[in-house]
Amino acid sequence: MTTDLKRQWWKEAVVYQVYPRSFQDSDADGIGDLNGITQRLDYIQSLGIDVIWLNPVYPSPNDDNGYDISDYRNILSDFGTMDDFDRLLAGVKQRGMKLIMDLVANHSSDEHFWFQESRKSRDNPYRDYYHWWPAENGVPPKRWSYFDLESNAWKYDEQTDAYYLHCFSVKQPDLKWENKKVRQEIYDIIRYWFEKGVDGFRMDVISFISKDITYPELPEEYHGDFVPFYANGPRLHEFLKEMNEEVLQHYEVMTVGEAPGVSKEQALNFVDEDRKELNMFFHFDLMSLDRDEEEFFKRRKNSWKLKEFKTLFSEWDAVFAKKGWGSLFLDNHDFPRAVSRWGNDSPEHWYASATMLQTFILTMRGTPYFYYGEEIGMTNVKFDNIEDYRDINTINRFQTMEQSPENIRSFIENEKHTARDNARTPMQWDETEHAGFTNGEPWIAVNKNYKYGLNVAAQELHKESVLHYFRKMVAIRKSNLGLIYGLYDLIWEDHEHVYAYTRKLEEEAYLVILSFSAEPQRVLLSEEISSSGKLLISNDHSALSRIENNMELQLKPYQAVVYKLD
Ligand code: GLC
Repeated sequence: MTTDLKRQWWKEAVVYQVYPRSFQDSDADGIGDLNGITQRLDYIQSLGIDVIWLNPVYPSPNDDNGYDISDYRNILSDFGTMDDFDRLLAGVKQRGMKLIMDLVANHSSDEHFWFQESRKSRDNPYRDYYHWWPAENGVPPKRWSYFDLESNAWKYDEQTDAYYLHCFSVKQPDLKWENKKVRQEIYDIIRYWFEKGVDGFRMDVISFISKDITYPELPEEYHGDFVPFYANGPRLHEFLKEMNEEVLQHYEVMTVGEAPGVSKEQALNFVDEDRKELNMFFHFDLMSLDRDEEEFFKRRKNSWKLKEFKTLFSEWDAVFAKKGWGSLFLDNHDFPRAVSRWGNDSPEHWYASATMLQTFILTMRGTPYFYYGEEIGMTNVKFDNIEDYRDINTINRFQTMEQSPENIRSFIENEKHTARDNARTPMQWDETEHAGFTNGEPWIAVNKNYKYGLNVAAQELHKESVLHYFRKMVAIRKSNLGLIYGLYDLIWEDHEHVYAYTRKLEEEAYLVILSFSAEPQRVLLSEEISSSGKLLISNDHSALSRIENNMELQLKPYQAVVYKLD
């Protein structure tokens, strides 16, 4: 019966993302580290997690918190040593979990040996590892950069009188995948970690790796939004296939690409299993939903609508209905906290909306990814002062804007909702100083709400906590195959406040009803639900333990209910 489901361990896994800098400090330097993570493995296991994804832990000057790697085969000293890494990996395996790492190979750090060599002379053996534009050819055609003070991706380098390309900060020069040697270096690096026993990679901005190396003028249509242009390099799929053939397919691993600019129409090119490229990727449609169309890091004026949210998830589900596989996430290290963004972090609605969102991710088709702290409902930190921010993205944008008091006020207000640092504050373990994260001074301030029940220790003691709900909900997903593989069908499509759907797998059927509203809601179980059912879980006691056709359900604010249909 289950053979045509194309069952795979990575489809059935629940993934937990750890931002190492902020998870647990073991040596009082204020920075999280590998030994800290090792100390917390029992906790992670207790959540029902199968796979841990570690953000970059390699040596790096930390211009972009580790996404600028200066040595791909080592460990950043702030985080520990390779022995610490080996112990962490062994601890993960002993507990029956798996570990995936972050592969940042669109660019390296400018302090990587390759770049140091590359910039020395035009005939250096490493010259062609990066994208160079000789200055005698004039100013290169415009390319946009994310973290450049002038949004200019070409940086003039005096030493060889040429420009190099950097789609992110000036300290993150783009690697030239068109050079076969570069690709071989990267495959070797991947092999190195696989040989150590690592179980896969999350691949940073993998959609950007291929470039048109004639560097033509950017077509007009991409001037407003260059991302789809970057994401459609001419040799992208050739590179992904080659990487699969040369390395990935020889190991039992999982891959998930970060893929800004990739549309639904292009999705299967990445993950159709017959094409042998990647297993899954993260699209950016949800992450753009509440953003200004012109300025990604700004909130849009009218806030997002549940109907748009439903359409988005339904359409993406349809993409993978027959082939490929999706990934599900509501936040990560680049975006604000899920409950503050998609739920409601006011004291009144925080518990219900945090658990409702967990229910959502764990009852959809696709592999669920949770970001550390999401299991206890961590919220945006909402810093009031620019001095509190650590992220290059916020700091650079602040520096380049006109510093009028009005601008500063609205900038800070916007960042409270969009800044990446909202989700990078230390894990809230207990009520002791700095939330049990460190005995030193934390590298970024802790969210003060750890003192008011928003910490692991308090939630362990409290039976009806976000944490306990998370554990229950994870267990429910894992013991009901239909919640993983079952067909998804949206119901009550036009309802403005309630998101409901069924999941069906052969004889198994489930009904999921989620209120996204701070007001009570009513729904009528009409013919769409052709039978009765029994309650599997709800985040509110008022839920009926059985439902029948044609019943009316009253939903509390942000209530979630999951029924198994008879
Ligand atoms: C990805 C990472 C982000 C980083 C960027 C550049 O989007 O998730 O944190 O800044 O790539 O590497």
